[in-house]
Amino acid sequence: MLSNTLAKSCMRSRPLFMASRPMAAFSTGTYDNILVDKKEGGVALVTLNRPKALNALCYALFEDLNDAMMQLDKDPEVRAIVLTGSEKAFAAGADIKEMEPRMYPDTYMTDMLTWWDQLNTLKTPVIGAVNGYALGGGSELAMMCDILLAGEDAKFGQPEVNLGVIPGMGGTQRMVRAIGKSRAMELCLTGDMMGAEEAASRGLVSRVVPVDQLVDEAIKVGAKIAKKSAPSIAMAKECCN
Ligand code: CAA
Repeated sequence: MLSNTLAKSCMRSRPLFMASRPMAAFSTGTYDNILVDKKEGGVALVTLNRPKALNALCYALFEDLNDAMMQLDKDPEVRAIVLTGSEKAFAAGADIKEMEPRMYPDTYMTDMLTWWDQLNTLKTPVIGAVNGYALGGGSELAMMCDILLAGEDAKFGQPEVNLGVIPGMGGTQRMVRAIGKSRAMELCLTGDMMGAEEAASRGLVSRVVPVDQLVDEAIKVGAKIAKKSAPSIAMAKECCN
């Protein structure tokens, strides 16, 4: 279980908040913690790629993700984005080792999580393809996507309560809206996980897909969207959200 060694990819020294960080030049495949692949048919595939830490959302990963997403959003060739993780984990939450030393006044005064929801500012639709653990911030990141497909082994949960904190990135609101108050509160207050079939039956995800077809299926959805009028898609997305 959780040890005290930080994965190398997140050991770069960086400020504790970085909402105003300038954009790096974009080229696919140049990030430490994510992979970016522009597919044919107007779809970009973004893969969280920090396998040793189950894609825990460290600052460096979010910095990479925000940067890539903003660049893809501005790219006229990209009309839909698929966001995925690994078979074992979409993302196991915020990076607990980075969170551990921080106290509330510090996180509040430095707007620690402000730049986490940059995904919500995109005009391009984002399709989440979730398999394995989507916990805490990982579940919250998934719920920021516009459409969610789940692999058969997906597990959603808000286990922050086990760490003595609460969901920090909208889990309490988005989970309640997605699956209703009672079951959402059960997840948030017990830290239990919910499997893919239940997530589909409660409307958190569109459908459950065999694991080996998950990303392809999400790309197909993206390609279908990519054929429609971009302004109509952007406006429909904004209105739904
Ligand atoms: N942060 C940092 N590292 C994590 C992590 C996390 N959230 N989750 C897993 N890891 C790391 C582990 O430390 C371990 O690394 P080492 O090999 O270096 O020890 C590696 O990933 C593999 O993890 P496990 O050995 O624990 O794997 P497992 O299969 O036995 O268990 C798990 C998987 C049930 C997901 C377990 O890792 C776990 O419970 N992780 C924590 C989940 C969690 O509490 N998430 C919420 C974080 S708080 C948050 O997200 C706040 C917010 O709302 C913004």
